[in-house]
Amino acid sequence: MTWEELEAKCRACSACPLHESRHNPVFGTGNRRAALVFVGEAPGEQEDLSGVPFVGRAGRLLDRYLEAVDIPRQSVYITNILKCRPPKNRDPLPAEEDCCIGFLELQLRLLSPRLIVCLGRIAAMRLIRPDFRITKEHGIWHTRGDSEICAVYHPSLLLRDPRKREDMLTDMKAIKARLDALKGPASPHES
Ligand code: URA
Repeated sequence: MTWEELEAKCRACSACPLHESRHNPVFGTGNRRAALVFVGEAPGEQEDLSGVPFVGRAGRLLDRYLEAVDIPRQSVYITNILKCRPPKNRDPLPAEEDCCIGFLELQLRLLSPRLIVCLGRIAAMRLIRPDFRITKEHGIWHTRGDSEICAVYHPSLLLRDPRKREDMLTDMKAIKARLDALKGPASPHES
C-alpha cells in the first residue's frame, strides 16, 4: 500500500464510533524518510480541528524539547495510536485502539524507522508491553522488529507535573545522541 492509499483509507475510515464526532482524522505529519518517529496517544481538540498532530499546548511543549536538543520537527515523523479524537480527551478504549492500530502498523512498515519514541504510557503500553510503567521505564530502549523503541513522558503530563521536566530533557538528550550515533563518527572532512 502507498502512503496516498493509506492516508485516503484513514480519511474514509468509519471502523469505530469516533469517526462520528471527528472534524478531521489526524493521520500523521513529517518526514516519511525519518530515522526517528514519535507516537503519541490520540488527537486533542486542536489536532482534531487542524488535522495535524501535536499542535495544541502539549504539542508546543514537545516543540520546545525538540528545539532544546536540536532535532528539527520537520526531520522526524509524528503520529498517534488513535487517528480520531476521543470525546473530552478521555483515554482510548481498547476496542478503539484495535480498530485503529492497523494504520500505525502500516505507517511503521512504510517508514521502517531506526528509532521509535512513544510519547506517554498509552503508546508504550501498546507498542512496548501492556504492563509498561512509564515512571520506572521511561528512557529505556527495547528492540521492536528492526527498530529500537523507548518511551518518554507525555507532554500533557509534563504540563500537569513540571517536576518531571528534568527527566524529559535527559531522555530527549539521550534520544538525540542515539540519533547522531546512527550516522556514525564524523569524517575528517566534516569536522
Ligand atoms: N496528545 C497526543 O497524544 N497526540 C496529539 O496529537 C496531541 C495531543
